[in-house]
Amino acid sequence: MITPFLLVLSIFTVATRAGKRGLTWTFYDGSLVLNNGDGQVVAIYDYETFLPPTTGGIGNLGFIGMQRCMDCPSSPISQLFSRWQSQRWATVFTLNEPDLNGISPASAATWYMKNINPLPIKKALPAVSSSATSGKGLSWVSEMINACAGRCSFDYINLSSSVASVCKKLLRRCHKGHNLVITEFALQNPAGGQAAQVAFFRQAFQFLDGAPYVTLYFPFVATSPSLLRKNDPSGASFVGTGSCLYNDNGSASPVGALMS
Ligand SMILES: *[C@@H]1O[C@H](CO)[C@@H](O)[C@H](O)[C@H]1NC(C)=O
Ligand SMILES: *[C@@H]1O[C@H](CO)[C@@H](O)[C@H](O)[C@H]1NC(C)=O
Repeated sequence: MITPFLLVLSIFTVATRAGKRGLTWTFYDGSLVLNNGDGQVVAIYDYETFLPPTTGGIGNLGFIGMQRCMDCPSSPISQLFSRWQSQRWATVFTLNEPDLNGISPASAATWYMKNINPLPIKKALPAVSSSATSGKGLSWVSEMINACAGRCSFDYINLSSSVASVCKKLLRRCHKGHNLVITEFALQNPAGGQAAQVAFFRQAFQFLDGAPYVTLYFPFVATSPSLLRKNDPSGASFVGTGSCLYNDNGSASPVGALMS
């Protein structure tokens, strides 16, 4: 399941491109109308270590591989290095919500050192949930960092956070000299629906574009309302469908129109 609302701290460099916007691409979404890669939209990830299987390719977007599982059929750990070698991503994202999936910080640290350390690219620590329970969320991350004892090489940390709290103050506090990449953000099912999301993103984009320490940001989510409801019903009820970048007919939604 996709977990919306993550805030990623990053020392992340993307070639010299003008834009900072990226697509959170879902496997069920065949359309990529915002993928020209010559405007504000420059990056894409799809929760896997293979490129999105779209007929039109991904244009000039920079793909970010994500080893979301310790090992799974869609992204086998045995193929991580070879997939990177053939695709040459600049960055790898790692485990998705290990704190909710019964993975201990110690086993994640061992796994990370063995499998992620060898990749000579930018690396993100696992993406935890926003749980405030001890042993979950950020406390899971700090336990993992302790278990690593300085031996895990990473460039950024994924911080989960409900979007309402992804406020400017928080961003300023998190950045502390690091650059930030923000993934999966939107208002959480606002009463005003799509219009409220448009107003939010308009303001958010303006702020993020002007913040020199923000390198990339990925609104939630690059799909259409009907596909989101069908394929990720819990995500659709948690976030609503007003932040979808596409209309059901594949054209850019009012939120999507803000992207270009
Ligand atoms: C952060 O976590 C989210 C959800 O798990 C994921 O979509 C995103 O790619 C992650 N980013 C990094 C840097 O791991
Ligand atoms: C696609 O759907 C949107 C939203 O319903 C609508 O405004 C637009 O006219 C449609 N475009 C086409 C080509 O049908």
